[in-house]
Amino acid sequence: MRIQQSSQQRCVVLTLAGRLDLVAAPQLQRAILKQLAQQPPAIVCDLGQVEAIDPLCAGVFTSIRHPALGWPGTALVLCGAGQAVADTLIRQGVARYLAIYPSLDQALANARVRPARLRERLVLGPVPTAAGAGRAFAREVCARWGLQELAESAALLASELVTNAVVHAGTALELRVELRDLRLQVAVHDQNPNLPRSLAKDGTDRGLGLLMVDRVAAAWGVRQDGAGGKTVWCRLDLPAQDSAAMAVGTDTAEDGPPDAISSPGRDLVRSKLAAQAPRAGLIPRVGLQALLQANLSAKLVLLDAPAGSGKTTLLAQWRAAVGPRRVAWVSLDRGDNDPTRFWIYVVEALRSVEPGVGATALGVLGRPTVDLHREVLPGLLNELSGVGSELVLVLDDYHLITNRSCHGSLGFFLDHLPAGVHLVLATRVDPPLPLARMRARGELAELRAADLQFSDQEASALLNGAMGLQLASQDVERLAERTEGWAAGLVLAGLSLRGRQDPSGFIASFQGDNRHVADFLGAEVLARQPEQIQRFLLRTSILERLSGPLCDALLEAQGSAELLAELERSNLFLVALDDHRRWYRYHQLFAELLRLELAHRQAALVPMLHRRAAAWHGQAGNLGEAIDHASAAGDFTQAAGLIARHWLSYWRRGQRATVARWLDGLPDQAIMANPPVAYVAAWIRGYSGASKQQTEDWLAALERGGAEGVLPDGVSSLAFGANLARAALVFDDMGRSAAAGWRALELAGPDSLQFWWMAQSALGHALYLSGRAAETRPQLEELVRRVPAAAQPVAVVLSLAVLSLLAGDQDDDRTAMALARRAATTADAQGLSAEPLCGIAYAALGRALARQGKLAEAEAQLRRALELVEIDSMVGQRALALLLLAPVRRGRGDLPGARVLVKQARELIERFTDPGSLPALLEHTEQGLASAPRGRVKAAAPLTERELVVLQLLPAQLSTREISRELSVSVTTIRSQVQAIYRKLQASTRAEAVAHARKLGLLQAGQLTRPAAVASRTQQADR
Ligand SMILES: Nc1ncnc2c1ncn2[C@@H]1O[C@H](COP(=O)(O)OP(=O)(O)O)[C@@H](O)[C@H]1O
Ligand SMILES: [Mg+2]
Repeated sequence: MRIQQSSQQRCVVLTLAGRLDLVAAPQLQRAILKQLAQQPPAIVCDLGQVEAIDPLCAGVFTSIRHPALGWPGTALVLCGAGQAVADTLIRQGVARYLAIYPSLDQALANARVRPARLRERLVLGPVPTAAGAGRAFAREVCARWGLQELAESAALLASELVTNAVVHAGTALELRVELRDLRLQVAVHDQNPNLPRSLAKDGTDRGLGLLMVDRVAAAWGVRQDGAGGKTVWCRLDLPAQDSAAMAVGTDTAEDGPPDAISSPGRDLVRSKLAAQAPRAGLIPRVGLQALLQANLSAKLVLLDAPAGSGKTTLLAQWRAAVGPRRVAWVSLDRGDNDPTRFWIYVVEALRSVEPGVGATALGVLGRPTVDLHREVLPGLLNELSGVGSELVLVLDDYHLITNRSCHGSLGFFLDHLPAGVHLVLATRVDPPLPLARMRARGELAELRAADLQFSDQEASALLNGAMGLQLASQDVERLAERTEGWAAGLVLAGLSLRGRQDPSGFIASFQGDNRHVADFLGAEVLARQPEQIQRFLLRTSILERLSGPLCDALLEAQGSAELLAELERSNLFLVALDDHRRWYRYHQLFAELLRLELAHRQAALVPMLHRRAAAWHGQAGNLGEAIDHASAAGDFTQAAGLIARHWLSYWRRGQRATVARWLDGLPDQAIMANPPVAYVAAWIRGYSGASKQQTEDWLAALERGGAEGVLPDGVSSLAFGANLARAALVFDDMGRSAAAGWRALELAGPDSLQFWWMAQSALGHALYLSGRAAETRPQLEELVRRVPAAAQPVAVVLSLAVLSLLAGDQDDDRTAMALARRAATTADAQGLSAEPLCGIAYAALGRALARQGKLAEAEAQLRRALELVEIDSMVGQRALALLLLAPVRRGRGDLPGARVLVKQARELIERFTDPGSLPALLEHTEQGLASAPRGRVKAAAPLTERELVVLQLLPAQLSTREISRELSVSVTTIRSQVQAIYRKLQASTRAEAVAHARKLGLLQAGQLTRPAAVASRTQQADR
C-alpha cells in the first residue's frame, strides 16, 4: 500500500493506492491517527487507486477510536472506491458508519455533513434530579447535532423515560441519545429485568404513565436486554429537510441490507409516507368521516372522484381523527410506476405503523430481480395476518399508477389481504383491479364524487366561515350548484370573490364543467395576487415538491420558507407534506394551471428553472429528482452523466423501471452520444422488450464511442460490455451470440475472474442454443464447482441449467434432474425467479420432470419459463420452451394444444437469422406429434399421470417388483397399472406396449440429440 497526503479545502486527503492487505492495516491506522492530531474538519481517504482491500483492513475505518474523531470534530470520509472495493466496504458494514462518496469532489463538498449514525450516553443514578439532568442532556445533544427542531421533544421523552426508570426500576440507568439514519432514538436502560407488567400488547401503555411518549414519539417499545436489565426506547423522525441533507452516507432502512453507494434506498422520500398535515380552517365534514369509517368494514374502500373533490383532505382529516397509529399512508407519484419502488413505499408505510412487519420483504426488494408474487407478498401477507389489530393502508393518488405489474401485484395483495387489514385507494379513475368481483362479494365500498360534494351548509361554512366572505345565502347556493359542490371549485371561486363588489354578477358569469371552471377561476385567482406572489407561484410551479431552501435556490432569493407558510395559510392550494412544514406541494390542479400559465408567459425561463432545481436536488443527493429536472431542462448531458453513474445500483436493487423511466426522459441522440448510457439502454431496454435492431444500435454506439477504460459499473471495457450484452441477449441469432460470447471471454482476460465467469456462462447458454454447448461443458462444470451462487447468481443458474439440458440430451435423466433442481432452487433463492435470462432454468426443470412422467409439474415449470421469456431478446429460449412443452401437452392428452405450441415455435424459428439447434428439435417434436394420429397405433384412452410414470420404466426391463420398489408403490398397484397401460395402448406384451408408446411419443428419449450437420455449420459462424 502507498499513502500520499495532501490538503484540500482545509481537509486532509489521504490518497491510498495498491492493495490494502492485512499488513497495511496498522500503517493505515497510524496515518489516520497522525492526521487527527491536527484536528482538520475532515480526513478524506481517496480509494480511487486501491486495487483490493482485505476485510480486516476495511475494519480499520470503523474501529479507530479517538476523542477528536466524530461529529462535531474531525469527520472520517471515504471516496472513489471501485466496485470491488466498495463491495467489501459495504459487506463489512463500513457504509453504515462512514459516508462513502463516489468522487473526491463530492466528498469534499459534503465532508461536513452530519454522519448518519451518532450516539451519546449519560449514566445517571436513581435520584430525583436525574430527570432534569436527562432533559438537559438530550437538549444539548440535539443542539450539537443540529437537530434543534427535535430538541424539545427529545428532552420531554428523556425526562419521562428517566422518571419512569427512577420510580419503577430504582437502579442505575443509562440515557442514550442516538441518531440512526433518519431517526432519533431516545432510550433509557436500567438494570431491573422485569418488563412492565401493565404493558399492553398494542403498545398503548397508559399504565406506565408514559403520556408524553404516546403523544410525542413516532414509535416506542420496551425490550429485555441480553446482558440483563431492559431498555425503553422512543423514536422521533427527522424533519424532511434533514432527511434530504443526509441523502449520502448510510442506509436508511434500519433492518435492510447494508447499502451500496448512492443506492436507491436513499432517496426514499419520507414525507410521502406522511399524510398531508391538515391545516387550520378546514371544514370538518364529520358526517363524511363517519361514512368513511363505516365503509372500512370492507376490504377495499375506493375514493374515486375528480381532482379537487376533497379526497385527500377527507382522508387526512379522518386519519388525524382516528389517530395515525393504525393508518399507513403513501402519497404516490409518477415515479412509483416501478413495482419495486412501489412496494418499498408500501412496506415502509406499513412498517411505520407496524414495525415488526416487512423486514424480509424490504431485504428481498433490495435485490436485483424480485418476484413479487412469490417472494415478497406471501411473506408480507403472513406477517400482516399475525398483527392482530386493525390496520388501514391508504394509497393516495393511485390514478398516477399505470404500470401493469403494480396493478397486478396490488390485486394479488388485495385477494389475500388478511381480515383486519383494509386498503383505501384515492383515485381519479377506477383502477384496473377486480372491482366487479369484489363488489359482488361485498368486499368493496365506494365513495364517489356525489358523496364528496359540499352541501350548501358546508359551502357556506367554507366561503363565509373559513374564507371570511360575506355572501348572501342565494349566492352560496348558486355557487354550490354551479360547481356541483366541487371543493376546489368552491375554493377557487371564494378566492376570486375576495374584495369583489358584485359577487352575484361574478357568480353568474362562469359555468361549464370542472375543467373550464378551474381554468377560468384559476386564472382569476392568479391575476388577483400581488406581482411578487404571482412570480413565486409561476416559477415554483415546475417543482413536484417545494421547500424553503429549494425555492430560494430556484428564485435566487431569500425568504421562501416564510412565503410558503403564508401561501398555505391563505389557502392557495399549497399543502404541507409534513408536520414540520418543511415540504409542500401544490394541488395538482393548480400546479397544472400555473405551469401552463408559466409556459405561456415566460417559456424561456422554464429550462433555467429546471436547471437550478436539478442543481439543488443534485447537491441534496435526490438523484431521481435531479435527473428529472436535468432532462426537463434539456441538459441531457448532465442527466445522462447521472444515469451512467448511478444506474447500476438501481438495477442491482430491482428498480429497472425507474432507470427505464430516466432513459425515456432522454432523446435518442442523447443516448447515442453517450456510450455508457447507450450501454445502459441496451441492457435495460433489451431486457424489457426492445427489438434486436434497437439494441444493436445502442451497442454499436457504445463501440463507436471508442473510449476505452472502465465503465461506470466497473466493466473493464466498452468492448467487453458490448459483447457480453450480445452474448446474453440472444435474440434470434444463436451464432452471433456465441461469437460475441467467445469475444467477451477473450476481452475479460484471465485477470478479472468475475467478468470471465460472466462471459463463460453467457457463452455456454448461447452455445447450447447453437447446439454446441458440449464445447464449454468442462468450463461450465468448473464454474458451478468453484463459483459461489451468491457471488455470481446469474452465471451459476445459467450454467446449471445448460448442464442439465446437456445431461438430458444424453439421456442421463438422473443428472439432468439433479442439476435442473439445483438451477431452479438457486434461481429462487437468489431472487432470480423473475429474471428473463433464468427462464431456461425452469425450462430445464420442466424437461427433467417430463422425463419422469410428472407431466403436470413439468407443465407448470415450462409455463413459468415461457412467462419469463416473452420478450424479443429471449425469443430463442421461448422457442425452446414451446418445443419442450408440446410433448408434455400431448402426453396429457391434448394433441391439438400440442400442435398449436409447435406451430408457434415454427413461426418463430422460421424467422430466425440463425436458429442454431432449434430446427432439429422442431423437426423431432413435429415427427413425434405427426406419428400419433396417422400411425396405426392409437391409445384407446389417455394414460393417467401415474400410468405415464410407470410407462417410462417399462423399457428398462425391470421386474414388476423392481418397478414397485423404484416408485415406492405396492406390487399389486403396479400390476394393475401395467395392465391398464396394455389395455389403453392396445398391446399384449411389454415390448409391444413400449413400441406403441414410442410411436405415440409417450416415451421421451434423446429429443435434443442433434444431427452433426447443424453443429458444424454454427461452429464455423463462431470462429
Ligand atoms: N374539508 C375541506 N375544507 C376546506 N377546504 C377543502 C376541504 N376539502 C377540500 N378542500 C379544498 O379543496 C381542495 C382540493 O381538495 P383535495 O382534498 O386536495 O382534493 P383531491 O384529493 O380530491 O384532489 C383543497 O386544496 C382545499 O382547498
Ligand atoms: Mg388528492
